[in-house]
Amino acid sequence: MRALIALGFGGLLLAGTALADEPAVGDSVAGKKIAGQCRTCHGIDGYAKIPIAPHIGGEPASYLRNQLIAFRNGTRTHEMMSVVAKMLTDQQIEDVAAWYSSHIAVATLTADAASAPQACTACHGTDGIALVEDAPNLAGETNIYIDTQLKAFRLGKRTHEVMSAVAEDMTDAEIRAVADWYGSVKLDIKMAK
Ligand code: HEC
Ligand code: HEC
Repeated sequence: MRALIALGFGGLLLAGTALADEPAVGDSVAGKKIAGQCRTCHGIDGYAKIPIAPHIGGEPASYLRNQLIAFRNGTRTHEMMSVVAKMLTDQQIEDVAAWYSSHIAVATLTADAASAPQACTACHGTDGIALVEDAPNLAGETNIYIDTQLKAFRLGKRTHEVMSAVAEDMTDAEIRAVADWYGSVKLDIKMAK
């Protein structure tokens, strides 16, 4: 009995090690099929079709994966996305993240770069194309979407070490100004084959 239990734990440990050494790798071809469930809102290329949904084409895969896991486990909630994410397995999350991240987001400024919000550009870029790992692009998102997310961080409905601190002291007017800046950038998504 004891030997069996020891074996059982050994197996678990081994499985755990194998997982840690080889994180699931996303397959963008399989991900494209899953994106069929996302396209009515996010488009097949990740250029959103409805104003409350964000553009997700060309985002870092790690960011997309983290958000889908957060919707699935309830640390980020949204009436539509919480339902969608609960239906996805770990592998499907990796695959659909690989698909959407395989495209290239191209931003074009429509206003003077000098007006870009200095508090944000180190991570989100002047044009809203992220400069740091794990940060999302903001280029061309609707000002409603950016506004909603900043207020969620401010309220503690959505939490993140950096962004909760950034949003904490922002006034509604400051939130609206940065939302308008990134919302004014023109976004194109160049699709992978
Ligand atoms: C019915 C519309 C709808 C469908 C279908 C849908 N989404 Fe969403 N998605 C949304 C909305 C709306 C949001 C914004 C949620 C919020 O305000 O927090 C969102 C947010 C997201 C985010 C967070 C992006 C960010 O910038 O933080 C990801 C990632 C995402 N969706 C991926 C997917 C994937 C993958 C699928 C398909 C498996 C999918 N969505 C299907 C509407 C949808
Ligand atoms: C030090 C880096 C850093 C700075 C500075 C920063 N951000 Fe962020 N931002 C991040 C990261 C990382 C995330 C991803 C949070 C998560 O995983 O939930 C993020 C997420 C966001 C989101 C959510 C986007 C989405 O698609 O859901 C918005 C909106 C945002 N930031 C706006 C801003 C604005 C506006 C400023 C300036 C006032 C700013 N950020 C400053 C790193 C930063």
